[in-house]
Amino acid sequence: MTKTMKALQLTGYGKLSAKLKFQDCLVPVYGEHDVLIKVKAAGINPIDYKMVKGYTRILRKIQFPATIGYDVAGVVQAVGAKVSRFKAGDEVFASVDYLRQGTIAEYAVALEGTLALKPSNLSFIEAASIPLVGLTSYQAFQLGQLKAGQKVLIHAGSGGVGTFAIQYAKALGAIVYTTTSTKNVEWVKHLGADRVFDYTAETYLDHLSEIDFVYDTVGKHYTSEAFQVLKQGGAVINLPGPFIDRQSQIELGLSPLLRPVFALLGMQIKPLIKKKKALYRFLLMDTNGNDLEQIARFIEAGKIKAVIDSVYKFEEAILALEKLKNGHAKGKIVITME
Ligand SMILES: NC(=O)c1ccc[n+]([C@@H]2O[C@H](COP(=O)([O-])OP(=O)(O)OC[C@H]3O[C@@H](n4cnc5c(N)ncnc54)[C@H](OP(=O)(O)O)[C@@H]3O)[C@@H](O)[C@H]2O)c1
Repeated sequence: MTKTMKALQLTGYGKLSAKLKFQDCLVPVYGEHDVLIKVKAAGINPIDYKMVKGYTRILRKIQFPATIGYDVAGVVQAVGAKVSRFKAGDEVFASVDYLRQGTIAEYAVALEGTLALKPSNLSFIEAASIPLVGLTSYQAFQLGQLKAGQKVLIHAGSGGVGTFAIQYAKALGAIVYTTTSTKNVEWVKHLGADRVFDYTAETYLDHLSEIDFVYDTVGKHYTSEAFQVLKQGGAVINLPGPFIDRQSQIELGLSPLLRPVFALLGMQIKPLIKKKKALYRFLLMDTNGNDLEQIARFIEAGKIKAVIDSVYKFEEAILALEKLKNGHAKGKIVITME
């Protein structure tokens, strides 16, 4: 096998166009619990451009150059000595863990425990669009204990997370409310949302109350507003921050030195949480292959479909990230390596 490969690498923090480079580098070394994957497609997520900007420094320090990308679908090329669930030739998908990040490349390495077999009814491009947004929503709905018949408000229903979350919430039997802009309203209804609010023309605050679960995928004003529509004892699961609750700070192993920062960021939210006796949690997706297998079952049962905004060639990956950074993708953007 060739020892070198092409990869999109981060060479330092800064602008995408300045700090991302297409480079030849060594095929990554795989350990005894790792799987080496020949990448067919890599899905991209906001964390990829946020990482270039340096916003994720608080969670993980990067040694440059570093190949970027978390989501992958491809074919197993080789497995480590202690890998038992996968073999060469298996078609797999995953969101690789933070230490093995680097999927916008010809080869990627994933810990065995993060992988699942690719759903048989999805192409590699479709499969690469699922892992990070799917795992995030699967774990968020477990954390907030979303149940059939409950009312869930999912912000940004047209985005990568939102398009998956709407379908998954409907599959669980929930009543789904969502927000998006004018151009996407009808399209998002077709994903299954019961009521779509055009955030450029109306405010959902005038229409909603007694919501069981707010899936806060945008942050900003939506985080404090969640408590205006939430029922007593409801759940708010936040993805973009900036307020990270104490429990999540501990689970993420954040330095206690950061506590005063989060105390300040939570000043507005904490009294609202208390008043509503709500569950508020910042969630950082866990790259879990078992959860991904459960998601694959929903997909194979036809309950969740991949929603693709656009597909870019490897050489166009920086353009793809620029497009995602504009914040108006309809579903997922995927890089094809074929
Ligand atoms: N903590 C975690 O583990 C985790 C995991 C996944 C994602 N995230 C974070 O969650 C956020 C969403 O991720 P994503 O992949 O869904 O992003 P995305 O695909 O880039 O979201 C784009 C969508 O957001 C919609 N949008 C923009 N402004 C909006 C507003 N004010 N109200 C309603 N919708 C709005 C856009 O619709 P229009 O074009 O109609 O405006 C667009 O369809 C990101 O900040 C990401 O970093 C965190």
